[in-house]
Amino acid sequence: MSFSDKPAATDAELHELIANRWSPRSFDSSHIISDNELETIIEAARWSPSSMNAQPWRFLLGKRGDKNFQGLVSCLEGNNLDWAPNASALILVGITAEKITKAETFDAGLAVHALCTQALAMNLHTHQMGGFNRNRVKEVFSIPVNIDPIVIIAVGKVSDPQKLKAELAARELAPRIRKPLNELILPGLN
Ligand SMILES: Cc1cc2nc3c(=O)[nH]c(=O)nc-3n(C[C@H](O)[C@H](O)[C@H](O)COP(=O)(O)O)c2cc1C
Repeated sequence: MSFSDKPAATDAELHELIANRWSPRSFDSSHIISDNELETIIEAARWSPSSMNAQPWRFLLGKRGDKNFQGLVSCLEGNNLDWAPNASALILVGITAEKITKAETFDAGLAVHALCTQALAMNLHTHQMGGFNRNRVKEVFSIPVNIDPIVIIAVGKVSDPQKLKAELAARELAPRIRKPLNELILPGLN
């Protein structure tokens, strides 16, 4: 086991890319992601399924040290500000449609999952954040009115959890938990 391992205690044997995905906060502030790696994980998102193949997802990419990264950091809220600036990249995901419906949000979720899975296959971890100021994102980046910011994803290499403040280190080391399967299955017809 290393810092980057936090396998789920699954009830069935799952593919390692599913079982081993988790959302760390202790990112290595010295790791540099290459343009090629960033492009590859976005390419995974690009090939996701979407309702009517509308591909409503849009991405804004920041690498630590560049202006986009700084701009995205300035939009983060709460605890996210404590750890996300150490990530190697921040990716804003937005959706666009003439009239935004639930389908676009659903499609963006599928694309983000593909992105996270591809990242893990490349030994990179991801952590999604809803805790950011959407209005500020729109202002800072002059995002067109028809694009709705959904999530910011931190991408990078995991490092020592003890570098986090105590409360976050405890969360980092806590086991991953889920509701039991029987709570998720609807009874259906007898
Ligand atoms: C849409 C979305 C928004 C999230 N927002 C935040 C956030 O703002 N800050 C944070 O620390 N984690 C955030 N998370 C991470 C979740 O807390 C995390 O995925 C969940 O606790 C399960 O943990 P795991 O991903 O390690 O399995 C978010 C996850 C999703 C999917």
